[in-house]
Amino acid sequence: MSVESIQTEKLIREYTALAPSYDQRWSAYLHSSFAMTLDQMTGLPAERVLDVACGTGQLLELLSERTDQSELVGIDRVPAMLEVASQRLGERATFLEGEAQHLPFEDAYFQLVTSTNALHYFPDANGALREIRRVISPGGNLIITDWCRSYVWMKLLNRVLPWTQHAHVHTFSTNELKEALADAGFGIISETRRKIDWFWGLMTIHATPLT
Ligand SMILES: C[S@@+](CC[C@H](N)C(=O)[O-])C[C@H]1O[C@@H](n2cnc3c(N)ncnc32)[C@H](O)[C@@H]1O
Repeated sequence: MSVESIQTEKLIREYTALAPSYDQRWSAYLHSSFAMTLDQMTGLPAERVLDVACGTGQLLELLSERTDQSELVGIDRVPAMLEVASQRLGERATFLEGEAQHLPFEDAYFQLVTSTNALHYFPDANGALREIRRVISPGGNLIITDWCRSYVWMKLLNRVLPWTQHAHVHTFSTNELKEALADAGFGIISETRRKIDWFWGLMTIHATPLT
């Protein structure tokens, strides 16, 4: 069995168990991390929006309240998370089971791509960023929010989690993520770092494809 399929099994086990209680259990954390993402979105074109690793669809729900005309699409690897997302948004969004590193969409389709709280799980984060670059339109926008290894607790967590059953793969620092984005063909528009409480340190990076 490859490292990637062991990782996927862990992910499915962890998030299938968590799906029914995810929204409630992580409510305060999610509120802060979505706020960091939404702060970057004001005024951006969003006719076609993709949320990569959309989980239970909360970010897409918040986006649907801002834009009633957008085509909203979410993709996630775990069916149990997508079930909650579908119940939440009904026909307002389309949800697909799939992997960030193999996006089943045509080139340059989405104007806005988001991903929150998920990059640290991707078995091939560089491949996922290249796929996002492929499906995002010229002049489009990518907004990624995730744990940030530039904070001491997040650095420690990145060391500890591989010794547990948790599906975590790798937590990026801000500079590391900016380099990975540059390698995938993005230019950086802005970066924000925030400690949302005594433990969690997050970053949001807003990027656009370079032509
Ligand atoms: C912490 S949850 C975040 C969900 C949502 N984005 C949010 O902020 O609430 C992580 C999500 O990433 C998904 N995920 C992890 N690795 C993935 C991958 N390679 N491709 C697609 N989804 C993935 C998991 O299934 C899970 O739903």
